[in-house]
Amino acid sequence: MSILKAKNVAIIGASGALGKALVENLSKDNDTKNIFAFSRKTILFSSEKVQTHSIDFEEEDSIFRASNCISKLMPLDLIIVATGILHDVNLYPEKSLKDLSTEKFQKLFLINTIGPALVAKHFFPLLRRDKRAISATLSARVGSVSDNQLGGWYAYRASKAALNIIIKNSAIEISRKNTNSIVVGMHPGTVASNLSKPFQKGVPSGKLFTPELAASRLLNVLSTLRAEDTGKCFAWDGKEILP
Ligand SMILES: NC(=O)c1ccc[n+]([C@@H]2O[C@H](COP(=O)([O-])OP(=O)(O)OC[C@H]3O[C@@H](n4cnc5c(N)ncnc54)[C@H](OP(=O)(O)O)[C@@H]3O)[C@@H](O)[C@H]2O)c1
Repeated sequence: MSILKAKNVAIIGASGALGKALVENLSKDNDTKNIFAFSRKTILFSSEKVQTHSIDFEEEDSIFRASNCISKLMPLDLIIVATGILHDVNLYPEKSLKDLSTEKFQKLFLINTIGPALVAKHFFPLLRRDKRAISATLSARVGSVSDNQLGGWYAYRASKAALNIIIKNSAIEISRKNTNSIVVGMHPGTVASNLSKPFQKGVPSGKLFTPELAASRLLNVLSTLRAEDTGKCFAWDGKEILP
């Protein structure tokens, strides 16, 4: 259970492994009263605190309509963007320059970078201003330029590095209007999900987290954030990931 004290929460990507685990964790938190859960496919949650709505990053209008589902009378304490793509039926992460394609870059940037940027555009005005309000977007350690030892995964790494600059930029801008805002990126660790499935074989024993454990660790890190943390990226253990 987290100690976030977030009354009104929006989770974008509630159908994913991490998004679903975050909704379920917060559903059990007595401080959380309203959870707006957004996903492409409609999914059901047993808690009465959860309202589900649709969102699709392929259309900006869908992100705008999603933001309008939240009453202005319920300013958000927390927004978590848990969407993301690494592969799909037509796309596999590149091992080498010869695997690069316009299509891969466009798709990964659309979902991993542009979608979260448009969520910031439409959802940040809904963050509360009278006390701490957090926006956390799931990024990835591989989006760190300084941490890159292995190469590969060009479009995914580049889309997450670009996401990190969107996080920093939007943190700077919103802090001028909302001094209680904290805008961060988060690396959840390697988590059992559809996204990580093809790559789980090489993960050392004990390093593949369940979505439930990862969600609980992420919420614990969020609960410790302070104003000076805005614009940064943090891992599941609370350590900052440098750009
Ligand atoms: N799992 C890991 O090991 C790991 C490691 C580092 C970082 N991360 C990051 O953590 C985040 C969540 O990953 P996950 O492991 O939970 O993956 P996941 O289970 O595959 O979930 C991905 C989510 O993204 C949503 N999504 C994909 N395309 C979308 C679109 N066009 N519009 C709206 N939503 C869309 C999916 O919706 P549908 O269900 O409709 O497809 C799903 O809710 C990602 O940003 C990922 O990069 C994960």
